Parts: sequence; structure tokens; C-alpha cells
Amino acid sequence: MFITLEGGEGVGKTTQQALLAERLQREGYACVSTREPGGTALGEALRELLLHGDPLTPLAELFLYAADRAEHVQKCILPALAAGQVVVCDRFTDSTLAYQGYGRGLDLQQVRQLNHLATGGLQPHLTLWLDLPPEVGLARTGLADRLEQERLEFHRRVHQGFQALAAAEPQRIVRIDAGGSPLEVAARIWSVVQPRLLAAVPRP
Ligand code: TMP
Repeated sequence: MFITLEGGEGVGKTTQQALLAERLQREGYACVSTREPGGTALGEALRELLLHGDPLTPLAELFLYAADRAEHVQKCILPALAAGQVVVCDRFTDSTLAYQGYGRGLDLQQVRQLNHLATGGLQPHLTLWLDLPPEVGLARTGLADRLEQERLEFHRRVHQGFQALAAAEPQRIVRIDAGGSPLEVAARIWSVVQPRLLAAVPRP
């Protein structure tokens, strides 16, 4: 089963990914935690360029996220899924639609086509959209990277993007209220993941 975590800045994805992986392991599921950009040697190098390098044109940025994803899908995600592992990935194609499409204003259809090319059509079985108002999330982030430093208006557009994506695919994308303590959010997440796992993966 392929699960992705999505959301704006400062919504707590990293903490929730660790808590979900712990829970999966406790329940006896073999699981791999990974992230985009990142998750491969190339991906980690691209992450540095994307988040801490000089400003990029929107199209160059889009292509680098796609290059990261192509490498990640082939070298990490598909092999783990083929080995029967549950893959939990921090950000995937919906981030590109929300940030480069809705945020930067690139053509959504072209972003979708590039996503499809990079993934070979692989889609998450379940996407958890951790939702917080952008102002609240941004206030939680510490040292800002290049994307976090974008104007609030940009992050509002990204948020509207996630809203639209979730509304268009309610079966796959489930909104999780990311307010409250990490354990409260983790409990909300588990109540969504557990029944899907039981339906999709043979019980360990
Ligand atoms: P994070 O994973 O630590 O939240 O940081 C990743 C940053 O990269 C975040 O600001 C969102 C951005 N991003 C995109 O703009 N497009 C993408 O396709 C992905 C995967 C991430």
C-alpha cells in the first residue's frame, strides 16, 4: 500500500510520518518511510538545490521536482511496493500540483502530464492531507527555507490547491485536521489508515 502525506508548511508531516511508521511497525506491517524531494542520492542533492539554492524559474523548479520523482519512484517506491512493504511518503504529486500549479501558476494540465511521465502512472492508494490555516502553519516553522519565505498569498493559493485536489478526489485524498497535539493528530490519521490497510493488505 502506498500512502502519501501532504499539506502546507508547518502542518507537522514529519512528526506524523514518524508516528505512523511506528504504529505500522507495532501492528506488524513492514514499512518504508521516504520523502520528496529526497529519498535517493540524487533526490537529496536536488532537495538542497531546490530548498536552499539560488532562485529558480518556475519551469526549471517543476522539472527538478519531476526528476527527483522519476528517480524516487523507480529506485525506492516501486521496489518497496513490489517487496510487499507499506510505503509512507512525505509529499508526492499533489505537492507539485498545489505548489507549482496553484502556487506558481503553472498550467495544471501540463503539471499533471509531467507528474504522469515521472511516476509512470503510479498513484497513492491513500493521501492524507494535513490541513491547517496557512498563517498557523507558517508561524510554526522555524528557520525558513526558500519556499517557506514566499509571501503569505502564495501559501494561501497552495492551500486552496490542496482544497480543490481533495474535493476532486475524495476517495483518495482525506483531509486530516492538523490542529491539536501530535498524538491527537496521529489518532485521527490512524482511524483513516487502519480500515484501508485491513481492506488492502493481508493482515500480518
Ligand atoms: P518539506 O518536505 O520539508 O515540507 O519541504 C519541501 C518543500 O518543497 C515544501 O516547501 C514544498 C516544496 N515542494 C514543491 O514545491 N513541489 C513538490 O513537488 C514537492 C515534492 C515539494
